[in-house]
Amino acid sequence: MGSLSDLKQDMKETLTGKESSEFDDIGNVVIEMNDVTFGYSSGGTVIRNIDLKIDRPGLYCVVGPNGVGKSTLIKCMSKIEEPTSGDILINGRSIKTMRHKDVAKFIGYVPVVSKDVFSMSVLETILIGCQNRRSGDSDESKMKAVYKVMVLLNIQDLSEKLFSELSAGQHQKVVIARGLVQKPKVLILDEPTANLDVKYQVYVVELLRALAESEGMIVIMISHDLNISAKYAHEVIMMSTPGVIYKVGPPEEVITKENIEKVYGVHCKVIDDEGVPVVILGQSMMDEFGNID
Ligand SMILES: Nc1ncnc2c1ncn2[C@@H]1O[C@H](COP(=O)(O)OP(=O)(O)O)[C@@H](O)[C@H]1O
Ligand SMILES: [Mg+2]
Repeated sequence: MGSLSDLKQDMKETLTGKESSEFDDIGNVVIEMNDVTFGYSSGGTVIRNIDLKIDRPGLYCVVGPNGVGKSTLIKCMSKIEEPTSGDILINGRSIKTMRHKDVAKFIGYVPVVSKDVFSMSVLETILIGCQNRRSGDSDESKMKAVYKVMVLLNIQDLSEKLFSELSAGQHQKVVIARGLVQKPKVLILDEPTANLDVKYQVYVVELLRALAESEGMIVIMISHDLNISAKYAHEVIMMSTPGVIYKVGPPEEVITKENIEKVYGVHCKVIDDEGVPVVILGQSMMDEFGNID
């Protein structure tokens, strides 16, 4: 792993290509969710009346209790699921009118790593991400980009290994690499740090923040770690039952004792570490029936 400044430089070269300025061409992206409600065909409503506008580059952490609809929210944003009602706009255009291929030119989606892994090599797995690149790159430039992304995540030695032979943490890095190589303006990741040890958790979140800052990207990630979100996110999107957005804003406004107690039902203390909120969890408010007083 290199230093953060090396990393930012590497990212710039990997993602924009020294010779190309395609990122600048499309400018910043604005994503809007207007009164979005969604339910799976098998059940009731999961997310409801979501209004959200993201019009600035940055790292956005989505937090909230299990089952509240975080993954569903980002699947709707990525056009993997279609809202039951309401609309989602990218740069003012409804994604209903866009083909999946066109949405993928703006948005890279990195799913939770599945246990049903397929038998492709790491290299082939990451190359799939190149299918959605905006430019018609040559094979050589695709391979170069794949290699650089592998170096960035320190997985170049795994390139010939089968995806199915890797550890959970290595799977995670490979799917992040596949998202990055797509060169999206918006990168959306479902719990990208879930299987990583603390060293890589911090590395990946620093990388995502550096990307947002140096490339002007919107990076949206789901995280269960309130302290990592508080430290690295430009903004935190806190969801609460029943599938609504409870608060959106800078960490110091969202990661508060009141909000955490209300949304998670856990007593806590939040202290200030040079402007960064630090959460110290206390007792659960949940009774033996799973109810919160
Ligand atoms: N493919 C699916 N089909 C039916 N219900 C689903 C599906 N995926 C998620 N759900 C349900 O939708 C709700 C929200 O799930 P999810 O978006 O995964 O929450 P989170 O990511 O916040 O844990 C849960 O009740 C979950 O059981
Ligand atoms: Mg989820």
